[in-house]
Amino acid sequence: MSIWRLICLSLLLPCDTAHSLAAAGVLRRAPPPPSIAMQLGSKRVNRRKRGAQVAERQKELDRLRLERPAAPRGASRPADAAARRPPFRYLCVLDVEATCEKDARHFVHEIIEFPVVVVDLYEKAVVGEFHTYVRPTANATLSQFCTALTGITQDRVDAAPTLEQVLESFEEWRIEQKLVHSEGFAGPEDFAFAADGPWDLRFFLHAECVRKGIAKAPYFGKWVNIKSMFADFYRTRSCKIHKMLQIQNMKFEGRLHSGIDDTRNIARIALRMAEDGCSFYLNEALSPRERGPNGGVFPSL
Ligand SMILES: *[C@@H]1O[C@H](CO)[C@@H](O)[C@H](O)[C@H]1NC(C)=O
Repeated sequence: MSIWRLICLSLLLPCDTAHSLAAAGVLRRAPPPPSIAMQLGSKRVNRRKRGAQVAERQKELDRLRLERPAAPRGASRPADAAARRPPFRYLCVLDVEATCEKDARHFVHEIIEFPVVVVDLYEKAVVGEFHTYVRPTANATLSQFCTALTGITQDRVDAAPTLEQVLESFEEWRIEQKLVHSEGFAGPEDFAFAADGPWDLRFFLHAECVRKGIAKAPYFGKWVNIKSMFADFYRTRSCKIHKMLQIQNMKFEGRLHSGIDDTRNIARIALRMAEDGCSFYLNEALSPRERGPNGGVFPSL
């Protein structure tokens, strides 16, 4: 099944969040007709400049707020600050790497690297990392193309746990880290996953779990699509990691297509968005049917 067919199908499925895939991820990114796009060209630059000025002012205000003496214990927080807080405290940024072959159509990908970087949106800091390689089971042999692209060697994946084991150890680690998941992602200490687009959680993780009959936790069912949130927040087109960093006056650090380095850079982008005043929300989700009973994801076998 082609990607487009998958997307069309997912548009037909019912979505229970206001900011569903259809609303936020796919439809809004249709490019305007060329004539309008050209008219918008110069305006967009001005708007971006204005956006940067607003962000600067906001940063200044935030700095002042931080330097103010702490309110006495028990005093209530200013209402506006509370209102600006995202519904969850932590983002778990995920950017997987998977088996691949040059120019191969209908290639069945398997995840081979599972890196998570935790961003605290309240403290505006990176506060944790979970990183492991993953052993593919349908075809354990990496192509040379894949090793060259990702830097992941055959030895690395041969010695690694399977995806099912990785999801179990992530769950143990999550509990140790006190990353909370409650119904609706709305608790004060809750976390939500975040990824650079729909690929990691939908086309790689979800598809592989369904194929292999692996049950995964409900927190993989809804997430923040950083790519589309970035485009909405800074009023730009959706763009690749290096371009997003450039718009934020930063540079890519590390090796492109290394899962952990990509993830750290996406976390930097998310952090800068938070500093610039972005209120994160869940803008992408699997459909309720895909998520299965009790909000958890179960294989459709
Ligand atoms: C497994 O993957 C490798 C690398 O892509 C490929 O060369 C090989 O033919 C595959 N094996 C099978 C049984 O599909």
